[in-house]
Amino acid sequence: MQLDLPTLERQSKSKKSNIVNVASVPQRSPFRYPGGKTWFVPCFRDWIKGLNKKPDVLIEPFAGGGIIGLTAAFENLTSKVVLAEIDENVSYVWEAIIYDDFEKLAKNILDFDLTPDNARKTLEVNARSTISKAFQTILRNRVSHGGIMAPGAGLIKNGESGKGISSRWYPSTLAKRIRAIGLIREKLEFIHGSAFDLIPKYSGKKGAAYFIDPPYTAGGKRAGRRLYSHHSLDHEKLFSELSKVSGSVLMTYDVSDEISILAKTHGFDTSFIPMKNTHHAKMYELIIGNHLASIGQND
Ligand SMILES: C[S@@+](CC[C@H](N)C(=O)[O-])C[C@H]1O[C@@H](n2cnc3c(N)ncnc32)[C@H](O)[C@@H]1O
Repeated sequence: MQLDLPTLERQSKSKKSNIVNVASVPQRSPFRYPGGKTWFVPCFRDWIKGLNKKPDVLIEPFAGGGIIGLTAAFENLTSKVVLAEIDENVSYVWEAIIYDDFEKLAKNILDFDLTPDNARKTLEVNARSTISKAFQTILRNRVSHGGIMAPGAGLIKNGESGKGISSRWYPSTLAKRIRAIGLIREKLEFIHGSAFDLIPKYSGKKGAAYFIDPPYTAGGKRAGRRLYSHHSLDHEKLFSELSKVSGSVLMTYDVSDEISILAKTHGFDTSFIPMKNTHHAKMYELIIGNHLASIGQND
C-alpha cells in the first residue's frame, strides 16, 4: 500500500513544506529532460553545503540532463563532477560539449531553420560525427512531446500557443547554455556507460558525494518505461553498491514502500520533499541517503 498525502505531510522531515519555485533556479542544461531535477536544485544545495566538508567530487551516475552536476560545477559546490549515462544518444550531447567542438554544436543550433520537414529530414539522416549525432539528440528532445526521446514519442504538432514544432526550440538559449558548459568543461568528466561501473570506482573515496536519480521502475511504477530507452534497473543491486561507498549519498525516488524498505535495510535515512508534478498537483518525492538533516531546512 502506498502512503497517502496527509501521512506524507506528517512524515515529511522538511521544516518548510514549500514547493520550490522552479523559475528561481538557473536552467543550465541543454536538455528538457523528462523527470529532470531542476526543482530539486535548492534541496541539493542545502544538502551539499550541509556536509561536514566540501566534497572533492560529485558523482552523478544517472546523468540524463545533468542539472544537479551542472549546478555543482557552476556554483563551485565541488571541484569536479563526473557524469555517467547509459543512453547513447544522450551521451553524444555530453561528449560533444565536454570533449569535442562545443562551439560548432552551438553554431549548428543557431543556423538551423526549424520546419516540420527539416526536422523530419534531419532526424532521419544517418549522422556520423559526434557533433551531428548530438545535434540530432537536441533536436529530437526539443521537437518531441514532453522532451521524450524514447521510441514511440511523437513529434509536437501544435505546441504552445499554436507555435507548432518550434514551441520548445530556443536556439539562442541553447547555444548560450552549451557555450557556458563548454567554458567550464575542465571541471566535468563524462562516461558513456553504466552507473554500476562508475559507482564502485569511487567507493573508497571519502571525499566523493553521489547524487543518484535512477529511472523509477520499482514496485510496478511505469513512468520510467515510457520516458527512457534504458529503464530497467536492479534496484536491490543499486542499494547494495551504494551501501559500500565511503562518501555521502543523496538519492531521489518516487514514493514507494518497496524502495523505502530497501533504503532502510541498506542503512540509509529517508525523507519526503514536496514537489509539483507535470499537471501541477502537489506530490511528494522520496529522498534517501545520509546527512539528510539539512535538506529542506533552509530556503
Ligand atoms: C530519472 S533520469 C535522470 C534525470 C536527471 N537527474 C536530470 O535531472 O535530467 C534517469 C536516467 O538514467 C539513465 N539510466 C538508466 N539506466 C542506467 C544505468 N544503468 N547507468 C547509467 N544511466 C542509466 C536513463 O537513460 C535516464 O537518462
